[in-house]
Amino acid sequence: MAKDPRLFVKELTEMRQDAVSDILAGKYGRLPIGNSAAKPEDRPEIVFLHQLGVYPEMREVDILPRRLSAFSDVDLRYRICQQLFEESKHAKLLRETLMVWNKDPDALWYEPIYEWACSFDFMDKLDTITYWSCNNLIGEGLFLEAILVPMKKFEPLAFRTYVEKVMPDEGKHVALGRDLVARLAISDEDQMQVRAASEVIIRQFTHAYRVIVQISEGKIDGTIPESRSYRFSATKGAD
Ligand SMILES: [Fe+2]
Ligand SMILES: [Fe+2]
Repeated sequence: MAKDPRLFVKELTEMRQDAVSDILAGKYGRLPIGNSAAKPEDRPEIVFLHQLGVYPEMREVDILPRRLSAFSDVDLRYRICQQLFEESKHAKLLRETLMVWNKDPDALWYEPIYEWACSFDFMDKLDTITYWSCNNLIGEGLFLEAILVPMKKFEPLAFRTYVEKVMPDEGKHVALGRDLVARLAISDEDQMQVRAASEVIIRQFTHAYRVIVQISEGKIDGTIPESRSYRFSATKGAD
């Protein structure tokens, strides 16, 4: 039997928060931030995390116009258009920050991290209800709580663009996902489908997070698994 929509949103939110707790507890490693006085543009891990962030913002800008056409409700259309504008603004601001640092703004857009890109490929194929649950309620919620919150807590100056320009908008995108799930995922079949896809997204995100930590620590290099060199393997053994 289908759950009350509010209880179903609560269930999905708890699934997401369990994953956030695991990430923040270090189950998938820890991003190497919070311990340097060097300029951000001189720190490869800070540059990498900005280049990485361009990708989801640009993918959202690709995907959202297609998702918009599923709705005729004017208020929903306004909120989706507002998200489209904000994701476009985030991509522009992250790229501008990288260009000021004299770094390649598109390094991980044209050749993305494999694990980071695959979850967007997965979500792009989902039906309307499942997409909004996975992308906004689960995916953007994970990004906000597991990546943006630590950036603000540990290195607000190095991640000034994320903290001041990106973070204030992301809560609205999570809320849009929450409202759409409560409105659309009302049958037992829909809820089972959303639950199963949300579990996939959580697995994909936590796996991608582990890879991102390893790249930002300098332990592995390369965008696709086959191309990666394990830099420290000669001296430290397999990590
Ligand atoms: Fe964004
Ligand atoms: Fe967003």
